Amino acid sequence: MAATAQAQPNIALVKYWGKRDTRLNLPVTGSLSITLDALWTRTRIEFDASLRHDELRLNGKEDPATLARASACLDLLRRRAGTTQRARIDTRNNFPTAAGLASSASGFAALVVAADAALGLTLDRRTLSMLARQGSGSAARSLFGGFVSMAAGQRDDGADAVAQPLLGAAAWPLAVVVAVTSDRRKHVGSGAGMERSRRTSPFYPAWVDSAAADLAAAQRAVQARDFAALAELSEHNCLKMHAVMQSSRPPLLYWNGATVDCMQRIRALREDAGEQVFFTVDAGAQVKAVCTPDAAPRVAAALAELPGVAQVLSSRLGEGARRLDDSEAP
Ligand code: PMV
Repeated sequence: MAATAQAQPNIALVKYWGKRDTRLNLPVTGSLSITLDALWTRTRIEFDASLRHDELRLNGKEDPATLARASACLDLLRRRAGTTQRARIDTRNNFPTAAGLASSASGFAALVVAADAALGLTLDRRTLSMLARQGSGSAARSLFGGFVSMAAGQRDDGADAVAQPLLGAAAWPLAVVVAVTSDRRKHVGSGAGMERSRRTSPFYPAWVDSAAADLAAAQRAVQARDFAALAELSEHNCLKMHAVMQSSRPPLLYWNGATVDCMQRIRALREDAGEQVFFTVDAGAQVKAVCTPDAAPRVAAALAELPGVAQVLSSRLGEGARRLDDSEAP
């Protein structure tokens, strides 16, 4: 009744910001993401009949908030397995947690894959994606590698709000350079932030109305490996989401000064130096530069020299969540 799994964060190029159901984490709009390979969450889970409560250690420390969310997600798998056994969860991230680097995406994707294996359920990927979504909306996408699209779905039970692979990592090998400008936990989490935007931003209806067209255009750009089209669309979609965040009441301003400097630098690298690179930013201060692998070292060097950039991480695109041998347990 024990298993270990690994999942990597994914970065959305067409973003999800707004829920049609907060209990099931059903998105109002579809989204499109890329799965990374160098950043990971590794999780070992062991079901144990002698435990009275679930236990969780994140990077070696107890974490009650993460435990509560993990327990709720595990209940879904326990119900399918017909067991009430509690579990001991050991999970580790090799990158900053809850700072806008999608640690909840890799975290819940790793959790469902490990729990599925430990409980001997052997659920299919679509079902695992649906279960991960109930932990964190974006986690549904980390079940798959490369370019992934996520449907908003229409059903009230969320059975059709699942991710699916769009193009494999090897079919269009891009790189991602992450400029870490803050390792602080974000002040407002994405769930509360989305609800605030839905209720108060005057731009929210326009955001929702334009999402399907953005998603279709991004899917076409990915299928055609059209970097310039994907760059234009992704930066537009990212800044449109931040306009919704910033026009919420009270405002959600996830950026710091270095975030803006990184975005300007990336734009200059593309427009003045001809590099194939574009930026995207999520609910945090970090900037992700998506580029061709040959440009990655130059992009990393340019971002590393900006004041306020504490760390630069580079990654290629990677595979979806998978089971690991227990010898690789965190
Ligand atoms: O899945 P959550 O609740 O962490 O929300 C993700 C929100 C964004 O990262 C800002 C956008 C996205 O689609 O990943």
